[in-house]
Amino acid sequence: MCGIVGIITSEKRNLVPEIISSLKNLEYRGYDSTGIAIINTGEIRRVHRLGAPSDVFVPQQISEELGVTSDGLSVAIGHNRWATHGKPSEENAHPHFDCTDTLAIVHNGTILNHELLRKELIALGHTFSSTTDTEVIPHLIEQKIKEGSSVKDAFLDTAACLDGSFGLALISSNEPDRLLLAKHGSPLLFGVLKDTLIAASSSNAILAYTNTFITLADGEYADLSIGSGNVSYKIGTIQDRENLITKETTTITDHSREDMSMGEYESFMKKEIHEQPSVFRTTILGRYDETTGDAVLGGLIDYEDMLRHARQVITVACGTAHNAALVGGILIETLANLPVRNEIASEFRYKKVPISPEEAILFAVSQSGETADTLESVKEARRKGYTTFGIVNVVGSAIAEAVDAGVYARAGFEIGVASTKAFIAQLAIFYLLAIKLARERGMTPQEGQSILNELNKIPNLMIKTLETTESEIKRLAENYASKGIRTINFLGRGIHVPICIEASLKFKELTYLETGSYPLGELKHGPIAIIDNNALSIIIMPHDDLFALNKNSLEQVLSKGGNVIVVTDELGAQNLVLQDIEVIIIPTLKNQLLYPALEILPLQLFAYHYARALGNNVDKPRNLAKSVTVE
Ligand code: AGP
Repeated sequence: MCGIVGIITSEKRNLVPEIISSLKNLEYRGYDSTGIAIINTGEIRRVHRLGAPSDVFVPQQISEELGVTSDGLSVAIGHNRWATHGKPSEENAHPHFDCTDTLAIVHNGTILNHELLRKELIALGHTFSSTTDTEVIPHLIEQKIKEGSSVKDAFLDTAACLDGSFGLALISSNEPDRLLLAKHGSPLLFGVLKDTLIAASSSNAILAYTNTFITLADGEYADLSIGSGNVSYKIGTIQDRENLITKETTTITDHSREDMSMGEYESFMKKEIHEQPSVFRTTILGRYDETTGDAVLGGLIDYEDMLRHARQVITVACGTAHNAALVGGILIETLANLPVRNEIASEFRYKKVPISPEEAILFAVSQSGETADTLESVKEARRKGYTTFGIVNVVGSAIAEAVDAGVYARAGFEIGVASTKAFIAQLAIFYLLAIKLARERGMTPQEGQSILNELNKIPNLMIKTLETTESEIKRLAENYASKGIRTINFLGRGIHVPICIEASLKFKELTYLETGSYPLGELKHGPIAIIDNNALSIIIMPHDDLFALNKNSLEQVLSKGGNVIVVTDELGAQNLVLQDIEVIIIPTLKNQLLYPALEILPLQLFAYHYARALGNNVDKPRNLAKSVTVE
């Protein structure tokens, strides 16, 4: 939610194109409005607009608007917004100024005590020009400067007064060779080049310029400046600013750069759907031992005893990550005979869970590692004494740092706002985790080997599934979209229920249509009332133990005149009367528990092609943000 960038350089040049290109790479974090501020000939100048940088910022035009001359610039900041406080509008778009127009700030996060601060500042004579929570920050800094503080002290004293989360970048026309950063709860790092330092909410924003970064931790600030013709930086904590900290740089591999480009694909989402076989392969790579039939999860190695003796597993997550955990729950219960409680993070934090922390292990699942609900759940769980583990995609993210230990998802950067490849990586980890927990609870080496053997084949079967289903699923999606079908339900039993929930979420996010997902047996208890010839039911029913039962339910839907697409395997298709139904066929598997990794693929594609047929933006669906950093 929201993305910030900031550049400071000793080699003066027009920084506007670099800021715009970095902002474009951050659009997935928020895209309702955007803005840039620079210091030019001693004064702060700004443009801010409604819309995403790709749509509203042309570098040359914005450079002209900002009056950038051939002398170039030393410092600039930029912001993409996802509105939380104050509607999307030009006035509410960052950067925000103080009353004297000498300070400009960009902020990612939420200030919880903004109302009180605003009241106090208004009483002191400050005038506000937006309805955002952020605008209290430049005014508070201004106030502290007025009272005698230096810009740096005013900035850090202000940061110390803020309740909530922030990644901040500040420039001041009174100190034009300085860029100040501070972080608490929202991600912030800066890239280090010979003559330039470039800050951003995420490394992918600036990978085009450098792959060497310093990541700030909560409570830290960085003072980036130009002196004697060179750039330099100092890092300290907001509370203890005089004791400077030395931090290691991190280098990101070239693979991450590929994630930032769409390549031959028409959208990031399409690309990411097609990357899933390789993501699955990478995620399980080196994490199992076929000779022992066991999973090898290095990140959990110090907690073997705890994993062995746990009597219950709790998962906390939101959205798609929660849906992956639902699949994981069924896997763990079935294979390890260990009870699992799947908690929605936004609920978990506020409810009483009658499980003693000594008996349970808790897994927080998150792609971004930033989701506020999940992060706060982890903190709350730790306060209550639970040992917490993470299944997180973004290395070094807040959740990855907050948990006791964990397993990284290895999906790479996921740019499409609707999560696909991160889901597959989370599933892959749950397969391994379930095997690990099961091997400690009676699963034989042979049983472990048998699942691992088939798990190893999943990436190739995913490739086959994508190749053989896409054109038919596209045809069906376009056909139903053009017919104006607006009631769509995803139905299945057992381990397919979470896939129905995920397919329905994906469909909702992309098409903006209301959809449902139900256990197939529940249909007759109510939802069947909405089935008629304007409704479409998508039934996931490979040829597993419940196939006969599912066939019965399929008949019930058909008898009410509903349209039906069945997702089944080769064997299932041979055992269905194909009259009046459309069929999507995935490969047959020996182990029924592995079907989710294949069956989700055509359903992601269905949502994708339906949304495209409706003319929707699949990479940036309306109202959504990639990392939801507000509760
Ligand atoms: C997925 O398509 C969604 N955009 C959303 O549900 C997401 O999965 C959820 O917000 C959790 O995000 P996280 O995995 O980054 O924690």
